[in-house]
Amino acid sequence: MSEMELRVSKIKDGTVIDHITGGHALDVVKILGITGREKRVITIAINVPSKLYRMKDIVKIEGRELNPQEVHKIALLAPHATINIIRGYKVTKKQRVKLPKVIENIIKCANPACISNSNEPVQTKFYVDSEEPLLLKCHYCGFIMEKKDVLEQF
Ligand code: CTP
Ligand code: ZN
Repeated sequence: MSEMELRVSKIKDGTVIDHITGGHALDVVKILGITGREKRVITIAINVPSKLYRMKDIVKIEGRELNPQEVHKIALLAPHATINIIRGYKVTKKQRVKLPKVIENIIKCANPACISNSNEPVQTKFYVDSEEPLLLKCHYCGFIMEKKDVLEQF
């Protein structure tokens, strides 16, 4: 990235979530449970021009890394996102998010009649029919979940 384009400062140690689908940065922040009252520097950039895709969002978090469940949730909304681990100002690890083919226990079925929503101890399970647009099929009732159904839960 050229100096002309540099919008937000580099971070010293932490995580940069880059190439987030434009408009989803605030959903990512919510997934991570960030309230803004933590004593951390958080940088959020929304709808910045990107070479790869038309627009992208970026979330930078000082002094924190992500757990696998958080990465899977981000992958549901932003399948092209990259997770960059920063140590001493350098990118020490770059990982593209990846949705598993089967998603277990991360989200609930939006069909109220689904057995996974009864009081039975049933764990949720979805098959990824499509990543973009997001289509998840419930293992139990066949209900097809879209991105909006997932967003309502975060
Ligand atoms: N970054 C940062 N602080 C650092 C190092 C990098 O905030 N100390 C950010 C960069 O601004 C960029 C992302 O982390 O948004 C990835 O950095 P880098 O791999 O250097 O950038 P690119 O090569 O453009 O990444 P990609 O190929 O994934 O687009
Ligand atoms: Zn279901």
